[in-house]
Amino acid sequence: MSRDLPPGLRAALSGLAEGRALNDLKRQHGAVSNHYRAGGASSGIIASDARALAYALARLPATYAACRSVLDRLDAAWDGPPFSSVLDIGCGPGTALMAAVAQFPQIETLIGLDHNPAFLALAGQLLGAAGRGDPALIHGDLSRGLPAEAADLVIASYALVELQPETVPDVVMRAWALTRQALVLVEPGTPTGFQRIAMARHHLVSAGARILAPCPHDNACPMAGDDWCHFSVRLARSRTHRHLKGAAVPFEDERFSYLVAVRAPAGANRSPRILAPPRHQKGASHFRLCTGERLEEVVIPSRDAAHKRLKRLEWGDIFEKDGN
Ligand SMILES: C[S@@+](CC[C@H](N)C(=O)[O-])C[C@H]1O[C@@H](n2cnc3c(N)ncnc32)[C@H](O)[C@@H]1O
Repeated sequence: MSRDLPPGLRAALSGLAEGRALNDLKRQHGAVSNHYRAGGASSGIIASDARALAYALARLPATYAACRSVLDRLDAAWDGPPFSSVLDIGCGPGTALMAAVAQFPQIETLIGLDHNPAFLALAGQLLGAAGRGDPALIHGDLSRGLPAEAADLVIASYALVELQPETVPDVVMRAWALTRQALVLVEPGTPTGFQRIAMARHHLVSAGARILAPCPHDNACPMAGDDWCHFSVRLARSRTHRHLKGAAVPFEDERFSYLVAVRAPAGANRSPRILAPPRHQKGASHFRLCTGERLEEVVIPSRDAAHKRLKRLEWGDIFEKDGN
């Protein structure tokens, strides 16, 4: 399944870039990118329409692809009623809202919350151009409260990493209180992003949430030391994107960490999850797995009857030794 932006959204984004000098957008992107690299949050740098657009041109395709990848996993494992509403906290340009309606087209109610007016304005433009011109876009600060209205699906994408670590448990528990069915958290696939996910997971499990993915269990996370649980999605780069980033290759790999917590005791698949790119060598394939109890390296010899099927599995997939 493609995780690239749908054509309507891609056209809307390039439409907004038209008429603006590419070199100016590149300068704006450079300022945003330097600020992020120095550990700054978006509020300190994205204070104009041009900067919000530069951020979206450079980052939205990748964060969208990460969200689609995670929502796809939720979709595959979900056996509850269809989602009819979505709340995106720290919505920025509306990335997760767009990914949610692409994955679950039956969603009718869209709510986005952010403290940055430039992002909210851009989210309105992009959703409008993509034919979803009816979202409720709310100006508000996550650490001070959330809109009282609950939603079937609640998402925070690349937002917890911008909060002070000590405020994360409170924000996550407020998001959980507003979750009717599933809460999805997506963060950068870095040690810091994973720490936010691990912290959120600990509090959610203590509050009775069930983990649908990526963990095949609700026990304590077996990831230890300086290791971190993360995944990757490959997406195509547009010409504008290549120009903004000064990139030569026509694709990029976005690394992300994530968590899907659900209320219902869903029929989650408790088989191990593949935690790294499988290594295929002469005579055998090697898989790094999380079994729930521990992290494990499993070697499947080529002569094994299941080898041909297992060889097709990828990083992030469920590993079913005895599946079909
Ligand atoms: C890196 S951007 C991610 C945007 C979008 N969710 C995405 O995945 O592309 C982080 C977003 O979180 C928002 N944010 C950070 N701290 C916030 C807070 N305290 N209250 C509301 N929004 C916040 C920022 O304004 C920004 O839109």
